[in-house]
Amino acid sequence: MAKKIVVIGGGPGGYVAAIRAAQLGAETHLVEQENLGGTCLNVGCIPTKALLHTAELYHAVRFGERIGLKGESVTIDWSALMNRKQSVVRRLVGGVGGLLKANGVAIHKGAGEVTGAGRVNVHGANEEVLTADAIIVSTGSIPVKLNFPGADLPGVIDSTGALSLPKLPESMVIVGGGVIGVEFAALYAALGSKVTVVELLPEILPGIDAEVAVVLKQNLGKKGIVFLNGAKLDSVSQATGGLAVKVIVGGDTREIVVDIVLVAVGRRAFTDGAGLEAAGVKLERGKVAVDANYQTNVPGVYAVGDCNGIAMLAHAASHQGVAAVEQAMGYSSVGHGRPIVPACIYTSPEIAVVGITEDQAKAQGIDYKKGVFPLAGNGKAMIEEGETGFIKILAGAKYGEILGVHMIGPRVTEMIGEATMAMRLEATVDELITTIHAHPTVSEALGEAALAVSGQAIHWPPGMKKQ
Ligand code: NAI
Repeated sequence: MAKKIVVIGGGPGGYVAAIRAAQLGAETHLVEQENLGGTCLNVGCIPTKALLHTAELYHAVRFGERIGLKGESVTIDWSALMNRKQSVVRRLVGGVGGLLKANGVAIHKGAGEVTGAGRVNVHGANEEVLTADAIIVSTGSIPVKLNFPGADLPGVIDSTGALSLPKLPESMVIVGGGVIGVEFAALYAALGSKVTVVELLPEILPGIDAEVAVVLKQNLGKKGIVFLNGAKLDSVSQATGGLAVKVIVGGDTREIVVDIVLVAVGRRAFTDGAGLEAAGVKLERGKVAVDANYQTNVPGVYAVGDCNGIAMLAHAASHQGVAAVEQAMGYSSVGHGRPIVPACIYTSPEIAVVGITEDQAKAQGIDYKKGVFPLAGNGKAMIEEGETGFIKILAGAKYGEILGVHMIGPRVTEMIGEATMAMRLEATVDELITTIHAHPTVSEALGEAALAVSGQAIHWPPGMKKQ
């Protein structure tokens, strides 16, 4: 008899797990209370990038005189932009539904509640009870709420709200200079809003290579974004002309009046109503605790994606979903162990990283060497006005195995695949050096950064300062 798998949550973790389960011959059920596609398709990766595409074209035309473009009269049609974003989302969500159907996955509309090993209640238009050989919990995450006076005022929004504003704000304070904060800062600044980022820590993008974060801040600063680092949001109140935002920076209190306050101080695992604790599933600091196979302490109950907090990234969720299903179906999931997870940040310039940072290498006592290649030495990057970017490769001091790749510049999000593959295949810098990179591409700089590990980059003068 076919095994039965119930997946709770239809985001990139859950729907991919369901398709994989069906491919492997399981009778597969997917429970989703809202739209298929989860945060990623509905209020995350996809709609933000749809808006960013237009924003970047708008910015390029508006400020394109130096590259031979004159288009001062270009304007933004906000409702057309919102409609276009929504139509991209609709098509992709519809596509996920089509894929599930084509694979024979039964979709149950409602809230899934685990009531014990192998049992899920579905609270929807009808109450249903599903039994399963394995349950894959993929319930995602929601924005962290920050408590401050004025947090509930209209105009104080989170990332979901920032995707459906009624009109383009003239000005905005973004609280939090993490990934979501800088992506929205870049997006709204490119659309013409005056953006101020309020970040508690001394630098933006905690966890990202420090030199990459500095270059991003400089670039965004040139586009008019103001960064207040080491700054604490005190309160927001209604004022004439907008929202008055009080911020404490180095002992001084500043007041900024803006149209919108976007709070982006992190996301937290979402498991409300999933019945996990009552079913005996262990949570650690709100996240579902899992082993290396994404199995919880209750046999046959797995948790993948944002709800386990390992890596809040859509592609990590999908990978975990596949690995969990393969385990549940009795396969050993060869190749899923110790996943190497790339991450991309869609700002201008783009950022793409994989592997460890220098700070992590130092903290772990790893003996490493590094090669940095400035994109000022790369023809394609220069054409695309990406001279301020760079690629940094960290490699083991003894064998030259690639430990981390950190890139900032044009098209780097499309180049991280090569670096990830190199790490997945345990390549050394020599393998990157002897891989022929097509010309003219920004990817040539990856080979140059590998050469730079031993101080032998071709297109950079020896001894010349790199940043
Ligand atoms: P985050 O953890 O990346 O950044 C939150 C930032 O807010 C931190 O820099 C933190 O120091 C700051 N902060 C916290 N409390 C604050 C306060 N009271 N005042 C000022 N600053 C404060 O979280 P973020 O940006 O909300 O993203 C959530 C998750 O979503 C992350 O795991 C991220 O990786 C993921 N994500 C990934 C994307 C991508 O890969 N392109 C895009 C969007 C989200």
